[in-house]
Amino acid sequence: MTNPTIDLMMKHRTIRSFTDQPVTDEQIATIIGAAQMASTSMNQQAYSFIEITDQAFRDELAQAVKKPSISNAARFFIVAVDFTKLMLPQSDAQQAVMHSNFGNTQMTEWAVFSAGMAVQNAHLAAESIGLGAVELGAALMSVDSIDAKLQLPAMVKPVIGFALGYPDTEHMPDLKPRLSLDGVLMTDTYQPTQAENAVAEYNDRMTKYYAERGEAVPRNWSDWFGVAFGSEEKPLVHLTNYSKQKGLYKN
Ligand SMILES: Cc1cc2nc3c(=O)[nH]c(=O)nc-3n(C[C@H](O)[C@H](O)[C@H](O)COP(=O)(O)O)c2cc1C
Repeated sequence: MTNPTIDLMMKHRTIRSFTDQPVTDEQIATIIGAAQMASTSMNQQAYSFIEITDQAFRDELAQAVKKPSISNAARFFIVAVDFTKLMLPQSDAQQAVMHSNFGNTQMTEWAVFSAGMAVQNAHLAAESIGLGAVELGAALMSVDSIDAKLQLPAMVKPVIGFALGYPDTEHMPDLKPRLSLDGVLMTDTYQPTQAENAVAEYNDRMTKYYAERGEAVPRNWSDWFGVAFGSEEKPLVHLTNYSKQKGLYKN
């Protein structure tokens, strides 16, 4: 079974290389308007898309985090969880309590989740009008300079970079295979054997996928995580500290 919406979703691929063709403000309004219609925890809409138009800063950031798309996409946004709008009309006393309540880890998680759903809507809307996009978690590696540049107040914390533009069709990535349905869809109880089998099957497919693409060292999905996360502790503690400084993930 399919339809045009599902077709579009099934063709999704992350775009990291863009042409110079501009993306208009009208297109951005449509894309972000679609993002806003995503479901959001308690209708909080606790996020902001903040565009960075300073090309010199984008170039600097792209270089610092080794992500050229920050520089070469037509438009680049930082998406931030943003509780400030919920607190604006409240009294000082209420705001103090709200700081604590919204800084709760679960509240923060729901807001991050809602921001993610908004970004996915934006991504799909962009694809539906011939654009491509990439979410850039790596942008957060320079979160201090982003924070200073965007003058972010407390309770506003970047969660992702979002670059979009017209895909460079000479560098179109292939569709990336996913785990089989069995790898993500379970019934009644958690199914460890089902998950294990699905991972083994996916690893076989991904070995072939990488080999066909001429990877110097063909590696499967699990190997990749073993190398990336299984050998040494990742130095992400500064991001945890940053989140706490902004008032989030506090309790
Ligand atoms: C939360 C999140 C963070 C991501 N961060 C990056 C990133 O820093 N750099 C990058 O090149 N791609 C990034 N991506 C894109 C993923 O690598 C990509 O979606 C994944 O490899 C699957 O490929 P596909 O989207 O082409 O199917 C991110 C995606 C998400 C959802």
